[in-house]
Amino acid sequence: MNTLTRLDLGEGARIFFQAGDITQQSTDAIVNAANSSLMGGGGVDGAIHRAGGPAILEECRKIVARDGHLPPGEAVQTTGGRLPAAFVIHTVGPIWRDGMQGESGILANSYRNSMRLADRLGLHSVALPAISTGVYGYPAQAAAAVAVATVIDELGTARRVHEARFVLYSPEMLSIFLQAAKDEQRRRNASHWSFQTLAPNAIDPLTNT
Ligand code: APR
Repeated sequence: MNTLTRLDLGEGARIFFQAGDITQQSTDAIVNAANSSLMGGGGVDGAIHRAGGPAILEECRKIVARDGHLPPGEAVQTTGGRLPAAFVIHTVGPIWRDGMQGESGILANSYRNSMRLADRLGLHSVALPAISTGVYGYPAQAAAAVAVATVIDELGTARRVHEARFVLYSPEMLSIFLQAAKDEQRRRNASHWSFQTLAPNAIDPLTNT
């Protein structure tokens, strides 16, 4: 079922949860689950480079030539090329080993640094995938808990970014992220947060109103 859920956190901050293809999003930026070479790959990385065209790879090449490989947990931006989003924020998630190698801290850094970069760029809305849950093998429930908690924290301190949109590739991943958000509400005793289920096209993707 292709539902769209909106979580209002108060003070204008909100998170949307939906299944879909992140390359179609018209948020100000979309986040890419890249690798340190920034030279593209499979999964969401491949989809973004295919849909966005060669301009993105060209900018990535320049970044790597100037600064070297992107360490896990860090984030850099390029333009969106032919994508509806103006920017792509490339971050590198952790490769899952056994959960004892700092994976959760690196994953939190990926979300945190992506959100902070978007804020520094003066952007209002950011779409995010389930970083590290594909090729990098991070267990989905554990990844969702880190993703949701970190993005909520960042929305609480951001100056300009007030909307995050988790765009998950399958209905199963969507329900795992929604459950993580409900668990987080319980953990924080945040009874003022409100969840609303909307029809998928109830929100204008251009204005998000
Ligand atoms: N839109 C949204 N989500 C997508 C899309 C898409 N178009 N395509 C794939 N996904 C989902 C996957 O189903 C998974 O849940 O993105 C999540 C992350 O999976 P990967 O893309 O495999 O990313 P990750 O696990 O972080 O591995 C990164 O994969 O492609 C390479 O270059 C990339 O080496 C890097 C590695």
